[in-house]
Amino acid sequence: MAWGWFTLPDVSERVKVGPVTELPGGYQGAVEVAGVSVLVVNHEGQFYALRNNCTHKDFPLLGGDVSDGRITCEKHGAKFELATGKAKTLPAVKPVKIFGTEVEDGVLYVFPL
Ligand code: FES
Repeated sequence: MAWGWFTLPDVSERVKVGPVTELPGGYQGAVEVAGVSVLVVNHEGQFYALRNNCTHKDFPLLGGDVSDGRITCEKHGAKFELATGKAKTLPAVKPVKIFGTEVEDGVLYVFPL
């Protein structure tokens, strides 16, 4: 929703992931948001959400190794920054779309940005 000079997140498509107590460090899961599969990661106590598709050959990112704020695609090894979706290593060059996360009353939600 555009509002004046800035844009508010579209929380109308907010999707409940679950209680944060059930999403410990190292957690990975996928939820559908606005018709696309979104990967949710708890990396060192911080939640991240990004489209669950590598931009190299459309392979799911779910289950990839996570370290130093990056997830590694298991197919050919491209790494993506969790916070920004930027491709950090070849063979991927395009970023992965990121989604918003928020915790309300102890429950994690994901929404399109
Ligand atoms: S499909 Fe992910 S690096 Fe090739």
